[in-house]
Amino acid sequence: MSQPWSQRFDSPLHPVIEAFNASIGFDLQLLPVDVQGSQAHARMLARQGIITAAEGEQLVQGLEQIRQEYAEGRFPAQGEDVHLAVERRLTELVGEVGKKLHTARSRNDQVATDLRLYLREAIDGLGGQIQQLQQVLCRVAADHVETLIPGYTHLQRAQPVSLAHHILAYFEMLQRDRIRLREIRQRVNVCPLGAGALAGTTFPIDREYTAALLGFAGVCANSLDAVSDRDFVVEFLTAASLILVHLSRMAEELILWSSQEFGFIQWQDSCATGSSMMPQKKNPDVPELVRGKTGRVFGHLQAMLVILKGLPLAYNKDLQEDKEAVFDTVQTVRDCLAAMTVVWQEGIRFQTARLAQAVGEDWSNATDVADYLVTKGVPFRSAYQITGQIVKFCVHAGRLFSDLTLAEWRQFHPDFGEDIYQAISPQQVVARRNSLGGTGLERVRAALAQAQALCADQPNGATPGMGSG
Ligand code: ARG
Repeated sequence: MSQPWSQRFDSPLHPVIEAFNASIGFDLQLLPVDVQGSQAHARMLARQGIITAAEGEQLVQGLEQIRQEYAEGRFPAQGEDVHLAVERRLTELVGEVGKKLHTARSRNDQVATDLRLYLREAIDGLGGQIQQLQQVLCRVAADHVETLIPGYTHLQRAQPVSLAHHILAYFEMLQRDRIRLREIRQRVNVCPLGAGALAGTTFPIDREYTAALLGFAGVCANSLDAVSDRDFVVEFLTAASLILVHLSRMAEELILWSSQEFGFIQWQDSCATGSSMMPQKKNPDVPELVRGKTGRVFGHLQAMLVILKGLPLAYNKDLQEDKEAVFDTVQTVRDCLAAMTVVWQEGIRFQTARLAQAVGEDWSNATDVADYLVTKGVPFRSAYQITGQIVKFCVHAGRLFSDLTLAEWRQFHPDFGEDIYQAISPQQVVARRNSLGGTGLERVRAALAQAQALCADQPNGATPGMGSG
């Protein structure tokens, strides 16, 4: 293969080194944004009189043809990387003028521009996907405002909650994810193009014009920083890691809930898998994979931090390693969001009879016994101690609070009355927790309405007005 660079070199690259150095194997997917960036650059060169208007038009048209070839799967991917492959093909298509495209530009500002364009699009897409998942969660929550589920702390039964309230906790996490992506997008959306290799250029370019053509909100201020900054990649990988943390926690609960020990949900055939040996098995492979895929995304974040930490200014080839981290992360988050959305849409069914049984079979209403005494004037700590005695009695006797006779209640405190039974029913226990942000049914209905409004519009990528809670 002929040298992509100058006549300074006498002999070609050793094939092992050539292959080692190349990024075309993975950066080809930047082609659409590379073409977009180059078209803007060509237009700017023409507008500034650095090339003629006719030349600018030829370049833009040739690049358009390349976009088409790529879309149709017939772009000849030859060269070290996508940038050189495009320039080479462009020159084949439009002749000598193709060699003018790289005036006042380096691959260093070019690749940084491509990556920002790519990430901006990816971020918008992921925001839309998160919103879709939120919409599905709202739909499921709407069906289950009055369904109760044991709430846990330390994975021990703590207090029952509305199932909708539990589901809306995930809505909140996803809402933060969406806001975070929107915030990061602002720092992604700045244009490095025109920084040249590191120091700018002698040509009278108009960086602001190019940036505007590409929809960037501004230009990177310092040319050295422009070509070597990958903070936006780290930020994106961090946001992606948190999205996967949330999906993974969700996945873990679905896995637990579908175990026979919990029995809170059942997997529908469309989203569960079988065992090759045990005919009775129905496995939650999907959430397990989501949980497992967190590993690679966290790994990419760690890798990127390590790649950057010792780099002197400005561009260093180490930065080529950013791409696979970004591509794989984008694809992984996309896949996980898509799979989880289908799971919530149709993959699981809540076992309401089992849930009703679960919330009535323990002493997770003990706080409400204590709170009952507090309403009778007993200080909370004393009420708490008295309730502890009642729990101890019940545990030893193998009985639930609801089994106790009024006489038995009164042995522990004379202020217990007939209304204690009502006060500790799971429905009451949940319905009455109407403090702000609590599981009380009025609160949950209001929270659901707010959540529905936050994700109501068409998920088209653009992140809408945010600020839940
Ligand atoms: N393929 C390179 C990358 O991904 C493009 C920039 C190369 N620049 C250079 N000076 N070798 O980072």
